[in-house]
Amino acid sequence: MTRKLFIKTYGCQMNVYDSARMADLLAPMGYAPIDEPEGADLVILNTCHIREKAAEKIYSEIGRLRRLKEERAATGAKMLIAISGCVAQAEGEEIIRRAPAVDMVVGPQAYHRLPEMIARIERGAGRVLETDFPPEDKFDRLPTGTSSQKGPAAFLTVQEGCDKFCTFCVVPYTRGAEFSRPVAQIEAEARRLVEAGVRELSLLGQNVNAYHGEGEDGEAWSLARLIRRLAAIEGLERLRYMTSHPRDMADDLIAAHRDIEKLMPYLHLPVQAGSNRVLAAMNRGHTADDYRRLIARIREARPDLALSGDFIVGFPGETDKDFEATLRLVEEIGYAQAYSFKYSRRPGTPAAASAAQVPEEEKSARLTVLQDLLARQQRAFLESLLGRTLPVLFEHAGRHEGQLVGRSPYLQPVHVSAPSALCGRIAQVRIERADTNSLAGTLAGERVAAE
Ligand code: SAH
Ligand code: SF4
Ligand code: F3S
Repeated sequence: MTRKLFIKTYGCQMNVYDSARMADLLAPMGYAPIDEPEGADLVILNTCHIREKAAEKIYSEIGRLRRLKEERAATGAKMLIAISGCVAQAEGEEIIRRAPAVDMVVGPQAYHRLPEMIARIERGAGRVLETDFPPEDKFDRLPTGTSSQKGPAAFLTVQEGCDKFCTFCVVPYTRGAEFSRPVAQIEAEARRLVEAGVRELSLLGQNVNAYHGEGEDGEAWSLARLIRRLAAIEGLERLRYMTSHPRDMADDLIAAHRDIEKLMPYLHLPVQAGSNRVLAAMNRGHTADDYRRLIARIREARPDLALSGDFIVGFPGETDKDFEATLRLVEEIGYAQAYSFKYSRRPGTPAAASAAQVPEEEKSARLTVLQDLLARQQRAFLESLLGRTLPVLFEHAGRHEGQLVGRSPYLQPVHVSAPSALCGRIAQVRIERADTNSLAGTLAGERVAAE
């Protein structure tokens, strides 16, 4: 019997990975994914708790789903609603209390139990809440299928959780303690994905460069060593990793950017702020100058590296002078692209209790200034690529007839008129146009990498 499954994913790439695994997990029970909640037998909201807005969205979405569920019930059909991800972990009991339409709440480390949870509900056992750690269990029990994989670029979670406890952040509470998957398990998953047509792998973790999974020699392998191993897989053309912490940017990982051709010249390395006082209050464990020196070393190893980052403005106690230090750092470093946010007060985190909260208008004003600067830098970076010929991995058809969309080594989408047979392959493209967030160009000649 085919049943319809709708999954809506919020938040980071790790949630995207988890949503794909949930789809794989439910496929043997007859659940096939659909693109709209209408007509679904099961709806999963895979949620994010990182900022207040993200979490609040979930309750309004549940409200909309409740109406769909009632309409469906009126026709004698059922629609189960599951809340997974970081809001589920942080506010599980509250969801059960506040939202009677929700049948299941499952945390990020417990979603491998979804099939048995569904079975329990179908037996009439009532609503279920599962928010147990630890992740070892989950990764051992996830299915090995790749049925949800679409296209040649895939995410692969190698590390999960965080022990850093930045004072603004919920992740250590929602994802739990840091955990690294064993090398052999990751390699097996990577090989399955490559067999399914994947050419580019992004290794994921909240703190991916803190990776220290067990290798077959019984030792803890670094991320660089893992990358080296995966780079040897034939058919795999590109590797990336995200998100990294400046404190864990080890020498061997910097060297990997120089030595491993398949490792793409792109690095997401958030600094959050440019003032040492704010960095200390955030518990980031490094200064702005440490970051500057680190970037200089990485650029020495890989001069064409495109840098990305995250910034928070209006952290409690941030003065105009502190904010100016952030602008100065951004000016000096030069980002190819970056994300920036207003500080959001998260319940249970140390910074939320500070009496020195920055007024909302101030945060908005600072964010506008920072985002203008980052947008100018992004524009400059994209324009620097004009006239260059870059290898592009084509991922899917574009909006226009005869167009394909791929990714440059620096991660921007590139729009090109190209035969659909090139989908899943790498071709050289001459870059001719830079838009706000993407590039466009024409095919430059022979394919560089065949299947
Ligand atoms: N592990 C990564 C970041 C994970 S969260 C790191 O350490 O860099 C992704 C981004 O969300 C963070 O880099 C931060 O910029 C932002 N963020 C996290 N908590 C926030 C909060 N309370 N308010 C605003 N932005 C926040
Ligand atoms: Fe959050 Fe800091 Fe951990 Fe990143 S390093 S996930 S910002 S606590
Ligand atoms: Fe959000 Fe959880 Fe990712 S809080 S950013 S979904 S780790």
